[in-house]
Amino acid sequence: MSKLNIKAFVFDAYGTLFDVHSVIEKCNEFFPDKGEEISQVWRKKQLEYSFLRQLMGTYTTFFTITKDALHYAAKQAGVDLTEGKEKELLEAYLELDHYEEVGSVLQELKPYKKAIFSNGSLDMLSPLVEQSSFGHLLDEVLTVDEVKQFKPTPMSYQLVLEKLGVRREEVLFMSSNPWDIAGATNFGFYTAWINRQDKVMDELGVKPHFEYRNLTGILEHMS
Ligand code: LAC
Repeated sequence: MSKLNIKAFVFDAYGTLFDVHSVIEKCNEFFPDKGEEISQVWRKKQLEYSFLRQLMGTYTTFFTITKDALHYAAKQAGVDLTEGKEKELLEAYLELDHYEEVGSVLQELKPYKKAIFSNGSLDMLSPLVEQSSFGHLLDEVLTVDEVKQFKPTPMSYQLVLEKLGVRREEVLFMSSNPWDIAGATNFGFYTAWINRQDKVMDELGVKPHFEYRNLTGILEHMS
């Protein structure tokens, strides 16, 4: 493939820049030996609820969905999620660890437009970015909450073009989530699947243009 004319590097947040499972520690503190199970079910239900609410036409913010998914995960694990524990776990979601290469990759990409594009609502994303060491390197933090359409709908990705003033073929979109990569590829972005857990790509009729184990690989697309 000849050199792309990438003008904007756009990043999914959860799982791509930030480790959603860094809440396992807090889950284990509250519910010993159930942290891993609760964190996995929490993330699974969080995504499932965003897809189902999109299909039902009952949009609500990703923060509300994250709280609802936590309640489901606690009920299924048979643990007592007190108000205090709920508050602390949701706060942990605002302070997730970021992956170690993020800051250096964003620094290298200084000459380019750089944005987060996430299903997360700003009440979740702003604290997360502010507590990270790389918030100042981002030009935009974009949320689907502006259009009330979750990824992977085409309408949601359209927001990126409007906000960054670029064409689809000028965007390289990064996500660790296969469904998000499929959605972005389907929409017309160039896509780099950040396959951190060496998963198998979902069968959704499209494939990522590139696949890397972490973000460092995307630097080959600097022109
Ligand atoms: C995000 C989650 C869904 O959009 O990965 O950041």
